[in-house]
Amino acid sequence: MRVGVLASGSGSNFQALVDALHVEGSPARVLCLICNVPGAKVLDRARQAGVEAVALDHKTFASREAFDQRLAAELEQREVQLVCLAGYMRLVTRAFLSRFPGRVVNVHPALLPAFPGLHAARQALEYGTALAGCTVHFVDEGTDTGPIIAQAAVPVLPGDDEAALTARIQKEEHRLFPAVVRAIAAGAVRLEGRKVVRREVIA
Ligand code: GAR
Repeated sequence: MRVGVLASGSGSNFQALVDALHVEGSPARVLCLICNVPGAKVLDRARQAGVEAVALDHKTFASREAFDQRLAAELEQREVQLVCLAGYMRLVTRAFLSRFPGRVVNVHPALLPAFPGLHAARQALEYGTALAGCTVHFVDEGTDTGPIIAQAAVPVLPGDDEAALTARIQKEEHRLFPAVVRAIAAGAVRLEGRKVVRREVIA
């Protein structure tokens, strides 16, 4: 399966996808990385991994839709079949999603539907939850509201600050996100309306 990754920042999830998927016999391969923030570290990671890196600055587009249409065109040109949002810090519009129906997935650092949006680990600490974690879900037009594919939980430990909890959550993201992509590529995950049908447990 041909995978395209969208990212905005450091790209540790991009790296985890490449490291896990670019092995012999893998059912999926990352064909390109598109980053909306010029100079972001993820662009260097892609070049170093030998993955085509495209910088597309959203600020140079007249509207959100115009940007999303160009983004979709770039992915279509490369015949991308699955789009992974890996720390992609923008909402995607219908203009984008309609071009990849049921084929856009996101990783989020919380056990959704708790703590959508920004600073999820900080929100969990402020709320005082005993568990935190990450979610991989299909993307819809809302903020982290799409159908959930898989989740992993981690404990919140005494003395945790945002950085410590984020690191613990990201370790799980780096494992879970590639596992979900592999399962989708193997045909083990299907979307029926809002319901995710899994042939196996993804953990
Ligand atoms: C990840 O923890 C990801 O879950 C989060 O941004 C981080 C990016 O890190 N995404 C969101 O919060 C989206 N709502 P990375 O650039 O090192 O992969």
